[in-house]
Amino acid sequence: MNNSPEHNDHLLKVNRQHLKQHFSHAAPSYDDAAILQKTVAERIDERLELTTVQAQRIADIGAGTGLLTVKLMQRYPDAELFAVDLSEAMLQQARSRLIKPKMPKLGAVNRLLPQNFANKCGAVMLNADAFALPFADNSLDMLTSNLMLQWCDDLDAVFAEFRRVLRQDGLLMFTTFGPDTLKELRQAWNMADAQREHVNHFIDMHDIGDALIRTGFGQPVMDVEHFTLTYDKPIGVMKDLKAIGATNASLNRNRGLMGKERFQAMLNAYETLRHDGKIPATYEVVHGHAWAAQERFKGPDRDRSGLVEISLDEFSRQTRKAP
Ligand SMILES: C[S@@+](CC[C@H](N)C(=O)[O-])C[C@H]1O[C@@H](n2cnc3c(N)ncnc32)[C@H](O)[C@@H]1O
Repeated sequence: MNNSPEHNDHLLKVNRQHLKQHFSHAAPSYDDAAILQKTVAERIDERLELTTVQAQRIADIGAGTGLLTVKLMQRYPDAELFAVDLSEAMLQQARSRLIKPKMPKLGAVNRLLPQNFANKCGAVMLNADAFALPFADNSLDMLTSNLMLQWCDDLDAVFAEFRRVLRQDGLLMFTTFGPDTLKELRQAWNMADAQREHVNHFIDMHDIGDALIRTGFGQPVMDVEHFTLTYDKPIGVMKDLKAIGATNASLNRNRGLMGKERFQAMLNAYETLRHDGKIPATYEVVHGHAWAAQERFKGPDRDRSGLVEISLDEFSRQTRKAP
């Protein structure tokens, strides 16, 4: 495993402005095509069943149209919930799912409002970037993120931001895509046009675990699950990717016109990968969770290799038991 910054840096160079545009453009078609995202949101919900976290304030980062957020609303009906997304258009689509249509009828207000009154009306939607969350330090009990992290080009920076807003022992529960994702599409492009990068690279789960440790998370647990969606034709894969906004946003992609010929060559190459009469599209879903470690283990002294430089005085101060 290579942990050098150079190694990780070449993996993803994402243009955030493109990303926002793609997702905003895809917002109206997202739900119909997001079969995998829905399934994976259910998997996260099942895993939450097994955790004992006391979650009063929860944020779902990269919430999109709220497929996971709505499950959190059901599982934690008394919690204060925030749905955060870079794309306002995606959050607009989430409204009907996350905002309860009617405020509770109060009649004459002759009694105190319940403490969590705002939440009874749904989740709070925040148009914000995962790299700069609008929350105070240590202010949330749990963060969730379903299939958003693959769009973050600097995992250390985004995890450090997650750690900042989570209270100590708070839980981070996420999914993202691993390197096998869209392997058939990558192979088809390699056959048709090996000169250019057409499919994003996805980070290995071990590197994700390392980034969590470097940024102050403890006990990371990771595992992968493979899904294969099948299509009648290769173009079906491309249509679905477009419908969910998952077009290539790499900065180092070729910017010229793709050219119908090259695209057709890719579709022809994809045809040769037909299996049992169907066109496969593999997704490697990485599931992960980790706990916000003690305050003293995080901090600016930690470098990207995970090493923390600490003076002997500071070390003895930190390790000295409270009287
Ligand atoms: C594939 S969608 C997943 C949406 C949702 N979690 C679901 O399960 O359906 C990825 C979402 O992440 C959002 N996103 C990407 N980068 C982001 C960032 N840096 N900060 C916040 N949201 C981001 C996109 O706008 C998009 O809505």
